[in-house]
Amino acid sequence: MHHFQYHDNELFCEEVSIQALSAKIGTPFYLYSYATLKRHFQAFDTAFADVRKLICFSAKANTSLAVLKIFSDLGCGLDIVSGGELYRGLKAGFSPDRIVYSGVGKRVDEIDYALETGILMFNVESTIELELINHRAGVLKKRAPVAIRVNPDVNPKTHPYISTGLKKNKFGINTEAAVENYRLASSLDHVDVIGIDCHIGSQITETKPFESALLSLISLISELKQTGTEIKYLDMGGGLGITYADETPPPLSEYAGTITQHLKGMDLDLILEPGRVLVGNAGILVTKVLYRKTGEVKNFVIVDAGMNDLMRPTLYNAFHAIEPVINSKDDLIVADVVGPICESSDFLAVDRSICNVNSGDLLAVMSAGAYGYVMSSNYCSRPRVAEVMVKGDQFHVIKSRENYSDLTKGESLPPFIET
Ligand code: LLP
Repeated sequence: MHHFQYHDNELFCEEVSIQALSAKIGTPFYLYSYATLKRHFQAFDTAFADVRKLICFSAKANTSLAVLKIFSDLGCGLDIVSGGELYRGLKAGFSPDRIVYSGVGKRVDEIDYALETGILMFNVESTIELELINHRAGVLKKRAPVAIRVNPDVNPKTHPYISTGLKKNKFGINTEAAVENYRLASSLDHVDVIGIDCHIGSQITETKPFESALLSLISLISELKQTGTEIKYLDMGGGLGITYADETPPPLSEYAGTITQHLKGMDLDLILEPGRVLVGNAGILVTKVLYRKTGEVKNFVIVDAGMNDLMRPTLYNAFHAIEPVINSKDDLIVADVVGPICESSDFLAVDRSICNVNSGDLLAVMSAGAYGYVMSSNYCSRPRVAEVMVKGDQFHVIKSRENYSDLTKGESLPPFIET
């Protein structure tokens, strides 16, 4: 459920007309609904009401300070993968003891930053990282709370680029080696073993893969118990999918039930790292039709947003519904919706049946709240677009549109270039 709905053929975000907003902001821009963000968090939270849990929003899906602030105010924690995400998280008010840190390539300065901050837990992805964290904790005279990220070799049946829990993926440590790593961790001077972690992939639309991963973690937990290692936190990662086209992800209650049924009688806190499911359908990308063009074999609708603004269609062949902001035309055309970038991979939709738009018409690229703005770039020297948030009948520009001088910020000419 989201708050982007038509009233008399005109698309609104909550109580704000997107057409009127576009006239003020200019296009393209990302648009988020406060009510949807809040509702998605609360629904997720309620689904897990029966267990001790910490929901850590996966910052990578949307790092806008305003979005982060909404979640931190709701009592959410944060899942980070970089020093930059830690910086943003702290700025948005997340308490360090609600932050978990995953990622295969944590740098020394990032490890130090997290140790100084006093985060809840490092999700460790290799033996060498474990040893480094221990060493840095010693140097900084801190204790490092750790979980081992286990790679349970489960097929999440999603796009290969966003599968992370298979043997061939770079993530985590396989189940057998994990036992060894726990033994090592317990022997290290500056590390406290507190958790176990996995994240098997993203945009997963079945419960089975989550259950398989959970069961292998649970059996590992009991194996560890026998050797005297007590696990306090079980982190199941994120990955629950959303509806972009006709996918039918399990309802939250079913997803939660699949996990919590196996936790009965276990004395531990569950951590979840949802990203897409909280923000994906809470945001859209608003773009304007620049031109219509009829190629020899295709129709093209050329819009002012390109692959640099929304990368997902190009990178994963991802489907995003595209709706007219003013829904006044009955006739449909089949067209590629393409951006202004000099690559044939610059498309938002291919062979899509859409309304018969003209220059100046506005289109809403739906479900763009997750992995949208965060994956945008300045390719082709295109300033990043604005981000706007609506609550009720109010709106606020939460990130201003970049201008040309932003494009050259930080650049300088070497003195050895002859003038
Ligand atoms: N936790 C970890 C350790 C992760 O790596 C991820 C996502 C999440 C949680 C959140 O997963 P979610 O609930 O959002 O599925 N750019 C891709 C998605 C990459 C996901 C990377 N990891 C896309 O646009 O589909």
